[in-house]
Amino acid sequence: MLSRDDIRGLVQQYGSDIIESPGMYIERGHLQHGRVSTFAHSLRVACLAVWLADRLHLMGRVDLPSLIRAGLLHDYFLYDWHDRDDGSHRLHGLTHGRRAMLQAERDFGLNPIERDSIHHHMFPLTPVPPKYMEGYLVNMADKISATAETLSPQRFGWGGAGVAEGNPGRRRHLS
Ligand SMILES: [Fe+2]
Ligand SMILES: [Fe+2]
Repeated sequence: MLSRDDIRGLVQQYGSDIIESPGMYIERGHLQHGRVSTFAHSLRVACLAVWLADRLHLMGRVDLPSLIRAGLLHDYFLYDWHDRDDGSHRLHGLTHGRRAMLQAERDFGLNPIERDSIHHHMFPLTPVPPKYMEGYLVNMADKISATAETLSPQRFGWGGAGVAEGNPGRRRHLS
């Protein structure tokens, strides 16, 4: 069984170019759930997806680099979805998987597993299910992380890890 440090090491090994990219720097400043940044949420999803694959005895059946990269990039939409605008962000829940996939493709290049897993990570809110095991793991990890982050004490101002910079006190949930 992989330890927490093993999992962090794997995410670093296969995702360091993403983690250190300008796009992920942008994600550090955007809130995702409660007071958790999109960057912190994405790291958590990648780690949790690996943890699920390990605990469900699927490590021999998944493409580990693709799983990690899809987890890191699943919310690579690069805007703060809480911002009010002309209304184009209103359908965020339905549209951001495709947008994340297109932008990740542009910035990193994606293989078919990564492309499909990012595009369809909001299933069943969006109608098309993931095609690959990796997509289901990212989907599960995302829903678990989103629920935990939305209900976290950090939401109410305790603790600092993963709090987005420059957006104090903004509280919304779910994506
Ligand atoms: Fe997410
Ligand atoms: Fe999402």
